[in-house]
Amino acid sequence: MSSPILKGEPYSPERTAEIIDGLNREGFAHLGPTLKPDEVEALRDAMQRKWADSAMHDEVGDQIQGISMMRMFEYSTAFRDLIVREPFASLAEAVLGEDCHMLAQNALRTEPAEPVESGKSGGWHLDDLVHFPLNDEFERHDPRMTMPCMVLQVFTPLTDVDEVKYGPTEVVPGSHYAGRRPNDSYNPNFDERGPVSILAKAGDAYLFNNQVWHRGAPNVSDRVRYLAGVTYSKRFVSQKLYPFIDYRMPEHVWEGADERLQRFLGRHKKGAYG
Ligand SMILES: [Fe+2]
Repeated sequence: MSSPILKGEPYSPERTAEIIDGLNREGFAHLGPTLKPDEVEALRDAMQRKWADSAMHDEVGDQIQGISMMRMFEYSTAFRDLIVREPFASLAEAVLGEDCHMLAQNALRTEPAEPVESGKSGGWHLDDLVHFPLNDEFERHDPRMTMPCMVLQVFTPLTDVDEVKYGPTEVVPGSHYAGRRPNDSYNPNFDERGPVSILAKAGDAYLFNNQVWHRGAPNVSDRVRYLAGVTYSKRFVSQKLYPFIDYRMPEHVWEGADERLQRFLGRHKKGAYG
C-alpha cells in the first residue's frame, strides 16, 4: 500500500540532542519545515473528509468532540503513517524510550470565532493531570533537575498559522517546572516569563512536554485552522483510545504496518506487569 506520508529522515545525534535540550529546558521546541506539501494536503483532506462524514458526528464524544477529531489513525492511512514519520518517531523514542507508543491521535479543527466569543475563556491548561505536583510551600521544581517527560505532543499545522490571528499554539516557557496548573487562565506567567506564540507554516512541526502550560490562541481570522499531530508517551502511560478496555483496533489499521509501527500502535513485547 503506498502512503502519501514520506518516511523522512531522523535528525543527526547532534540535532536530536539540541532538540531534547530545548525541550528539557523550555518545555517545547520548534522543528521548522518538516512535511512536504503533498503530505499536508493528504492529512488535511483526511480531516475534511472525516468532518464532512455525518456518521462521525453521530456518536457524541466518540469520534469528534468539539474541536477534537479523535483516533485519526483509524480513519486515514496518512495519519497512521504520520506516527512513524521521521524525525517524529526517532525523537519520540529518544525522549520517551525505545518502547514508547502513540498515546492518542487527536487532530484539531478550529473554526473562526468572533473575538468577543473566543475571549470568554483564556483556555490555558496542561494536558490531563499534573505529573509532579508540588505543595504550596514549594514555589517550583528545582531548575537543576531535568523534568521527566512522560507525554510528548507533536503538532503539524496543515494551514499557515503564522500570525497570532490564526490561533497559534501558545506556551509559557519553562512552566513544566511549575508543579501546578496555570496560575492565571488569561495571562499566566512562570518565573517572570509570559506566553510565547509558536508561529508556524503548514508543514512545520513543533513539540512540547504535555506538562508545559499551553493553549490554542483564539482563531480570530476568517479561515479554519487545521492541526494534525501525534501524542506519544512512555510505555507505562496507558494508551487513551476510547472506549478503553473495550477498544479494539480495527483490522485495517494493521495492514502493511511494520514492526515498529505496530509497536507504536501498542503491540508491545511482554514487559513489567500483565
Ligand atoms: Fe492541550
